[in-house]
Amino acid sequence: MAKLSVEDLVVAYGSVTAVRNVSFTVEDGEFVSLLGPSGCGKTTTLRCIAGLEGSSAGTIRIGGEVVAADGRDVPPEKRGINMVFQSYAVWPHMTVFENVAYGLRTRREPAATVDAKVGEALKMVGLDGFAARYGTELSGGQQQRVALARAIVTSPRLLLFDEPLSNLDAGLRDRMRFELVALQRRLGQTSLYVTHDQSEAMLMSDRIILMKDGEMIQSGSPRDLYDRPASRFAAEFIGNANILQGDIVRAASDGRALVSLADGLTIEGLFSRPEAVRVSGAILVCIRAESIQRMRDAEDGPNAFDAEVTSASFLGPVVTCLLRIGGLTLRAELPARTAPAAGETIRVRIEPDAVTLIPNG
Ligand SMILES: Nc1ncnc2c1ncn2[C@@H]1O[C@H](COP(=O)(O)OP(=O)(O)O)[C@@H](O)[C@H]1O
Ligand SMILES: [Mg+2]
Repeated sequence: MAKLSVEDLVVAYGSVTAVRNVSFTVEDGEFVSLLGPSGCGKTTTLRCIAGLEGSSAGTIRIGGEVVAADGRDVPPEKRGINMVFQSYAVWPHMTVFENVAYGLRTRREPAATVDAKVGEALKMVGLDGFAARYGTELSGGQQQRVALARAIVTSPRLLLFDEPLSNLDAGLRDRMRFELVALQRRLGQTSLYVTHDQSEAMLMSDRIILMKDGEMIQSGSPRDLYDRPASRFAAEFIGNANILQGDIVRAASDGRALVSLADGLTIEGLFSRPEAVRVSGAILVCIRAESIQRMRDAEDGPNAFDAEVTSASFLGPVVTCLLRIGGLTLRAELPARTAPAAGETIRVRIEPDAVTLIPNG
């Protein structure tokens, strides 16, 4: 196991710069995700760390050892890493046992060691009893488990994952997320995971690195990114956010402010981060759909509004409503038990601490 550090990584393909000065670390035993929309440079970053792609500039260290820097490029097989891909890359003409044993055989490990390690890895991924099956006799989920067993069997210093669950059906994908994290925790395996799926990154990661257009936008724990987005992009990419334009009316010294919205409405909120604090001017107001709460009809208080329900869609645990408040339309997720029907006028409030003020632009 080992720490990964990436410093000022740049990858250019001709005139396209796919990765721009990306720097981050993954601590020993940590699970970190690179999250961002398709084309933002996640795979390129991962492939550079694996040694499958050359970098234009920057330094990559695994366990303190420089594996990529100007003039030095350690080949993939000498980096002590394993990678799990979206396409399972399970060899169909080999048995499950041989698929998993491959990496150990290339190291010429004794047969008894290979038997023991492969058995252990198959047990870890829940494929006990599948050793003799051929790749062609496995479902997608089972193939992904084989790929996982193959990645962990050689006890690499670092595991790299590139959207490994994207090809699975929704139900299996959800289960595999939990299983994969449980396995990673058991092994204490340093892991870097690439996904474009924000809920996957939230569920699995100790830390998330949010990327856009080849750059790192923000990094932090799932909760930090969710509660304290530093930009409109972060607020919109993670969770369901209503983003409104506002103007600061009055700012307090404790990071709170009163903000005017369209149509003479005002709302109290909290700046997302110290560096976001402003005393005047335009600001963005972020209200999570689940932060809007229904109140009793005549109840009052800060950030209480009358809202007309223009649509209400039942989703099981919640009802997603579109609310007209003055001239604004907000999306709200209300508990199904007490949810209104379309056409009703209801009273709602939003906790001032749940109204996040972020810089405009
Ligand atoms: N071999 C390549 N040649 C030219 N451009 C590439 C190559 N690989 C990736 N790119 C470009 O680099 C950018 C980042 O790609 P990628 O890392 O695959 O993004 P992601 O994994 O986040 O979807 C994209 O604009 C992509 O088109
Ligand atoms: Mg990719």
